Amino acid sequence: MMSTKIQLPQKFKLNQPIESNRYLINGELLSWKGKMAKVYSSISSTDSYQPTYLGSVPELEEQQANDSLEAALEAYDQGKGKWPTMRVKERIACMQKFVKLMEAKRELTVKLIMWEIGKNLPDAEKEFDRTVQYIYDTIEDYKNLDRDAAKFEKNEGVVAHIRRGPLGVVLCLGPYNYPLNETFALLIPALIMGNTAVFKPAKFGVLLITPLLEAFQESFPKGVVNIVFGRGRVLASPMMKTGKVDVLALIGNSKSANALIDQHPKSNRLRLILGLEAKNPAIILPHADLDLAVKECIAGSLSFNGQRCTALKIIYVHEAIRTAFLEKFTAAVDALKFGNPWDEGAFLTPLPEPNKPQYIQELIDDALAKGGKIINKKGGRLMDNYIWPPVLYPVTKDMRIYEEEQFGPAIPIRSFTDINTPLNDMADSNYGQQVSLFGKDIKELSPLIDALANLVCRVNLNSSCQRGPDVYPFTGRKDSAKATLSVHDALRSFSIRTFVALKDNEENLSILEEILKANNSSFISTDYIL
Ligand code: G3H
Repeated sequence: MMSTKIQLPQKFKLNQPIESNRYLINGELLSWKGKMAKVYSSISSTDSYQPTYLGSVPELEEQQANDSLEAALEAYDQGKGKWPTMRVKERIACMQKFVKLMEAKRELTVKLIMWEIGKNLPDAEKEFDRTVQYIYDTIEDYKNLDRDAAKFEKNEGVVAHIRRGPLGVVLCLGPYNYPLNETFALLIPALIMGNTAVFKPAKFGVLLITPLLEAFQESFPKGVVNIVFGRGRVLASPMMKTGKVDVLALIGNSKSANALIDQHPKSNRLRLILGLEAKNPAIILPHADLDLAVKECIAGSLSFNGQRCTALKIIYVHEAIRTAFLEKFTAAVDALKFGNPWDEGAFLTPLPEPNKPQYIQELIDDALAKGGKIINKKGGRLMDNYIWPPVLYPVTKDMRIYEEEQFGPAIPIRSFTDINTPLNDMADSNYGQQVSLFGKDIKELSPLIDALANLVCRVNLNSSCQRGPDVYPFTGRKDSAKATLSVHDALRSFSIRTFVALKDNEENLSILEEILKANNSSFISTDYIL
């Protein structure tokens, strides 16, 4: 077992554990007197390995789950609540206040992203900054949406004022790999569109939400956002069973999504906004630029140790260039630097899930037993909180690494001579998020792009898969997603078209004019938000 010498700069030390017993319901920061869940980092603070104790958060119970849902329902008040009927510019003002307060927490949040989930410093900073930018972009986009709606239409003698309205109460559950960004990419558009929400942070990356509790409390009217801590089974299930959750917004895996959906008694009524598993392939064609393909496949498969839904989770390389690619690729994997998140140049970092190295080991054992090999020298070396990424070749369809979303450092490789091999595999797969296609010959590329665009929702030409820039649509086919996210699409996903219609006659038009003059409806308004 390899171990590392700990170098912990003063700047990144956590002075003391964060014991946060607070949670937010109905605008009140309540203190929990019951059981607390201890939070550990898989990063050691001492030379002899031991997880670092980071603090604790409440392990709330069913009662608090029900209270939080009640608070969200009351704030929505069947659409009559202050928040869903508030003027757009006032909701925007609340969001602007929130983002300012959030920005002040950058240093601590970035530090906690590193400690809690092991993300390296540049990526932790990027996660924070990208989220702040996402909020600003959402505000701007909502202004545009509102400006476009500030008008009347007339068709076949019917005058209409069409806007987008909220859907109701949103249960928001985010993932551990982007505990801030992905969660807020759900929560922020949900709130700004006038919905109310209950939000439960993921199992890792939970302490980093605690410094933001006050910001939420101070920025939004009571009950609009409720934040609870604890286990999904204990908290989310009872909420779903009431049938009063209007929208399930979840980024995670389909197993937990399906389990929750099944508990909702009126599934036809439940709206779903889901980001689920993927097994994005890279396809490397004979005339690909090899150095570029190697660089992008490293970034795609191993950024944040492959713990991204968009990660490249299988590579298909054409036989004609297989030997050359594998040689360069395995050397590049073994040349990567492993270290703690704040270590200069650390690309590979500790895995937050204590059982992940063991899981990857099981995938390796299974592949080896079925004729696969680890073809990089360091592949499979175990450390206390890590396993060196194995490059596995040849991978066959009966192997677990072919079938399962590894969500960690392990790279399965298949070779092909007929392009239908990867295409058929993709068509048979349960997933359909993105693909990376490497090549230069347009005669080969063009028909492939046409086919691939119908198998997934983003074809990345000569680059790794990724979600960003966040203005682009992020979605997937089959088991990979439901609904579309992006700055703009998320506003649509969390709202519904709703409008006021009236027959075009003198009496109606004068009522309309009176309403506009009195300026006492939030919905009927031609105000142009600056
Ligand atoms: O885990 C899935 C994330 O949406 C990936 O985002 O491609 O920007 O890393 P990213």
